[in-house]
Amino acid sequence: MLKLMCICGARPNFMKIAALVEAFKATGRIQTQIVHTGQHYDEKMSDLFFRDLGIPQPDINLEVGSGSHAVQTAEIMKRFEPVVSEHRPDWVVVVGDVNSTIACALVSVKLGIKVAHVEAGLRSNDRTMPEEINRLLTDAISDLLLVSEESGLANLKREGVADAKVKFVGNVMIDTLLKHRARADQSRILSEYGLTPKHYAVVTLHRPSNVDDPKTLSGILDAFEKITDEMPIVFPMHPRTRKNLATMGLANRVDDLKGLITPEPLGYLDFLKLTADSALVLTDSGGVQEETTILGVPCLTLRENTERPATITHGTNKLTGPQPEAILSAYKAQMAMKLDANRRPPMWDGSAGKRIADVFLSHS
Ligand code: UD1
Ligand code: UDP
Repeated sequence: MLKLMCICGARPNFMKIAALVEAFKATGRIQTQIVHTGQHYDEKMSDLFFRDLGIPQPDINLEVGSGSHAVQTAEIMKRFEPVVSEHRPDWVVVVGDVNSTIACALVSVKLGIKVAHVEAGLRSNDRTMPEEINRLLTDAISDLLLVSEESGLANLKREGVADAKVKFVGNVMIDTLLKHRARADQSRILSEYGLTPKHYAVVTLHRPSNVDDPKTLSGILDAFEKITDEMPIVFPMHPRTRKNLATMGLANRVDDLKGLITPEPLGYLDFLKLTADSALVLTDSGGVQEETTILGVPCLTLRENTERPATITHGTNKLTGPQPEAILSAYKAQMAMKLDANRRPPMWDGSAGKRIADVFLSHS
């Protein structure tokens, strides 16, 4: 049996490891352990996804919690080192670009344990993003780079990475979406909020560049205020954003904004149903840009760049940046146009997990 240790820690990791763990199990030749770092720990940022997606309970939880980048990364490294030393898997599998990803990758390579990075090669080319640093460093030290979209191949080639390390496998996030699409349809989330399909917008925001600066966040709220004149907005709020609104003195403004619904973060199935039936999505999430592309739902990304350009060239995504005027003009243009939503990036087909399992078996 090949022994793989899968790392997860933050919300977007759970959808990815769900597809991986299932595909590994299906081979009958791979034994998988799950390590949860505890980077995200609220019930609605973690446990809910294990239930919704049927992910086995983590074998080990490092329970690191929140902290500055240095504190959190270092704490994960300290707590992960004895775990990986004891179990010595054949591979440590890290996903995405969060602090848990780089922390566990770095510990593993220094112990001579091979690291595979799922979602390798993505680049925003914006080093003010903490995730961009995590991506660059993780790719630089990983032994196997599993790429989700074509831009990742080009980026790694440009950086001089040997072809033998790189495999184009597709997008595991989409495996999970396609698997759970029908189940998500049973969600009652629309009736819970009194929403009519295609007559509301969905928002998610959590990037430091949007939610850590009061002027930027307040400007984004200006745009939402105008949009709610035309349709309700459902904004399931990330804990970082909710905390910042409170400390910036903007919480009352949000509470008083008619037509803005701000529940706690939603579970995967409810959020998928909410997104799929919406008129459009406004977000700064990486995963949501990808999901809207497959759902054929227009997506305005309130950022100046994206590390997922396939969502623009092959999908429904547009970049607006965070300025209210730009958000509103993109919103108006979007509502006026008919979207050609039949495109899909290559290998976003529901079989990425299987391709990844095959890569591991052929490397063993
Ligand atoms: C992290 C990732 C980001 C990813 C996002 C997904 C890094 C550098 N950032 O950002 O790439 O897009 O997760 O959601 O790894 N908090 C809670 N409860 C929780 C988790 C966090 O209240 O369960 C609050 C804490 O105040 C914490 C803050 O949110 O300080 C930020 O959490 P953190 O994990 O550091 O970064 P995210 O903004 O969640
Ligand atoms: N998501 C969710 N509930 C929410 C908001 C997002 O289930 O209230 C899901 C979303 O469908 C996607 C993932 O969370 O699968 C994206 O995670 P997030 O935006 O936190 O991180 P990012 O992708 O930006 O790193």
